[in-house]
Amino acid sequence: MQKLYSISMILMMLVGFWACSFSSKEVRQVVDFNRGWYFKLGDHPNAIREGFDISSWRLLSVPHDWSIEGNFSEDHPTKPEGGALPAGMGWYRKTFFLPKEASEQSIWVEFDGVYRNSEVWINGHRLGERPNGYSSFEYDLSEFLTYGDDANVIAVKVDNSAQPNSRWYTGSGIYRNVRLIRTGKIHVDHWGTFVSTPAISNETAKVELEVIIRNEGHNRRHLTIETVILDAEDQEVAQLESKASVEGSSHFEILQEMEVSQPALWSTERPYLYKVVTKVYAGMQLQDEYTTPLGIRYFEFDTKKGFSLNGTPMKILGVCNHHDLGALGAAVNKRAIERQLEILKEMGVNAIRTAHNPPAPELLDLCDEMGFIVQDEAFDVWKKKKVDEDSHTFWDQWHRKDLEDMILRDRNHPSVMMWSIGNEIREQFDSTGISITRELVGIVKELDNTRPVTCALTENVPKKNFIYQSGALDLLGFNYKHKDHKNFPNWYPGEKLIASENMSALATRGHYDLPSDTIMRWPASYDQPLTTGNEDYTVSAYDQVSAYWGSTHEETWKSIKQQDFMAGLFVWTGFDYLGEPIPYPYPARSSYFGIIDLAGFPKDVYYMYQSEWTDTPVLHVFPHWNWEEGQMVDVWAYYNQADEVELFLNGESQGTRKKSDDELHVMWRVRYQPGNIKVVSRKNGKAVLEREIFTAGEPQRVTLTPDREIIKADGKDLSFITVNIQDMEGNLVPYADNMVHFELEGEEATIVGVDNGYQASLEPFKVNYRKAFKGKCLLIVQSTSNSGVVKVKATAENLQPAEIELKIVD
Ligand code: GAL
Repeated sequence: MQKLYSISMILMMLVGFWACSFSSKEVRQVVDFNRGWYFKLGDHPNAIREGFDISSWRLLSVPHDWSIEGNFSEDHPTKPEGGALPAGMGWYRKTFFLPKEASEQSIWVEFDGVYRNSEVWINGHRLGERPNGYSSFEYDLSEFLTYGDDANVIAVKVDNSAQPNSRWYTGSGIYRNVRLIRTGKIHVDHWGTFVSTPAISNETAKVELEVIIRNEGHNRRHLTIETVILDAEDQEVAQLESKASVEGSSHFEILQEMEVSQPALWSTERPYLYKVVTKVYAGMQLQDEYTTPLGIRYFEFDTKKGFSLNGTPMKILGVCNHHDLGALGAAVNKRAIERQLEILKEMGVNAIRTAHNPPAPELLDLCDEMGFIVQDEAFDVWKKKKVDEDSHTFWDQWHRKDLEDMILRDRNHPSVMMWSIGNEIREQFDSTGISITRELVGIVKELDNTRPVTCALTENVPKKNFIYQSGALDLLGFNYKHKDHKNFPNWYPGEKLIASENMSALATRGHYDLPSDTIMRWPASYDQPLTTGNEDYTVSAYDQVSAYWGSTHEETWKSIKQQDFMAGLFVWTGFDYLGEPIPYPYPARSSYFGIIDLAGFPKDVYYMYQSEWTDTPVLHVFPHWNWEEGQMVDVWAYYNQADEVELFLNGESQGTRKKSDDELHVMWRVRYQPGNIKVVSRKNGKAVLEREIFTAGEPQRVTLTPDREIIKADGKDLSFITVNIQDMEGNLVPYADNMVHFELEGEEATIVGVDNGYQASLEPFKVNYRKAFKGKCLLIVQSTSNSGVVKVKATAENLQPAEIELKIVD
């Protein structure tokens, strides 16, 4: 133990030195502050002191979520709605050193999000608290730091013990990134710029930049503020210099106006990004350099014509997502978010609603880069609670700050095109909704007048909806009840409209209940979960089941696609998420709403959207072909770019089908015989695509298919490896549930999660084994900081094993 302790002390010092070994020439040093934290569950108030004994604490890197490391239990106070994983309290502590020259600098620490009720101390001084687990915040450390050989101790208490505090899984801990910022005494303020593009034409775009500059020195200084705009190739396309003088210990704001000629516009197909680089000089000496992202685009919501981007009408084709990353829990990982967005992009999604809280900043960076429109949402509750310990408990004291910080942090992202001040807020039903809406919209407009403010409403009757009655919203969002939409132009004359949340259809990947053409609304609620469904807690993946307040995917999309006045829609949800396992009771512990399951495997309805929302030729046929002899089985196909499809069973035609104007899929009902089914899509009599499904034999082997074989040796990058159970011919065995064990050979990577997308699996996520579910499971491997080759092996009893190599590169 003693030995272990001294090794960890050495490590800790190395981390400290590493963290701060930056060339002093850089004027602004943004230091990754994620490594070298010690963590322990429980309450440890003495950890704020230097010399505190951490020998029993665990060394880890943040982002970290301790809930996802736990075991499922119905008895956890988070309840199945919160994911049935443990919460409680925990402490983090980190030691770091700063060079003597740093005493001349301004130094602050930035937390992107800590769930929840965090309190932070530096060298025994309490810096503050932040109840809201989704807000980003920073603390100025400068006056409390020591330099040279003396260690600094930062301690963070995280208290997620008041439960239940959420209607979905939140995670617990420092689950987002942390940075240490070091600048000179004269510097651009934290979130201190605001870029906007008030006038855009083909020839030119006007760019306005507001900059707040702080002088934390004692003397008045004359400053030059030089700003350049760089295009995507880092070529300068605009430049401006301003002069100002600033008193000691004060700050000021300047406005710079520039022009970019022949601007390349940001769009969802071509998300072109510029950069605005601001340099602050005192005399000849560079004091700070700060980069603000810039996307040049204009958009409009129209009461009749819906949404247009850069003058081109388009529908917002969005999904709502919660923030968890499946087996990785809430712990932010940029590659895991990017993978989710890649899967959504391929399906044709062009927008994300950050249900129901400010997201990780990396999500917005990726939406800027990949071309997604974002509805950035602040709250799920205001003063009136939904669950006992939710954010209504700190509404009075914190709502202004939480909302302001979201706007200040996110307003430079071109992807963000709507601010949402809430989801299904209780105050829409009484007159307090009027004043609170006006207050919140006022807070947003103070900081950003360039985007509409919306709110996701459920009360469709105008005179009963007090949030609407406030008259303060720019854009009305409505959740569900799509049959009312046709009346909206009459009920809400002159209003701009978006279907902010829809469907809540339910499905388990790879499970099919017959017959498929009966639509079921399951009377599920938190209080009355379904006890009469399938014994194994599955829900049919034919698009035939929804929560009673929603609809199947096909029902709502069919109607919204015809309504030009509706700017677009957000489907509930893109991915399954932990918690809210409607319609079932425990052991169901994650949601059924996703178009894609928790492991990232698409359910069948994914292809309905792909056939509707993209130009990719699509022909998707399901279900599998392993049934009881003689059973009547419904075969569905989603397709596009063809005028008919024909099904063959063991070579014999079962008829040709064409979608009517009112259909988004076709179906054949056939008597099952083993063998194969084949569907051919044709246009003008010529075959476009062909799909074949065979009756699978006994499980024979495991296969491993990584999404990427080469990943970066940065200690963060991931390879998502799909594990299939196949028969002798290479067919997926659709009922296979073999237990698969994983092993890595090599120090260059580690296993960080396993999953199979099954909503009622009680297996843990942070282990090296997983049962397949409907023939599939997932292994997630993360690089360390060492480059090299890692062998990944998968074994299962009585099956041929699999082995692949991953390259981890610098
Ligand atoms: C909505 C709510 C979502 C989620 C969904 C489930 O009413 O806004 O957060 O609970 O229902 O269907």
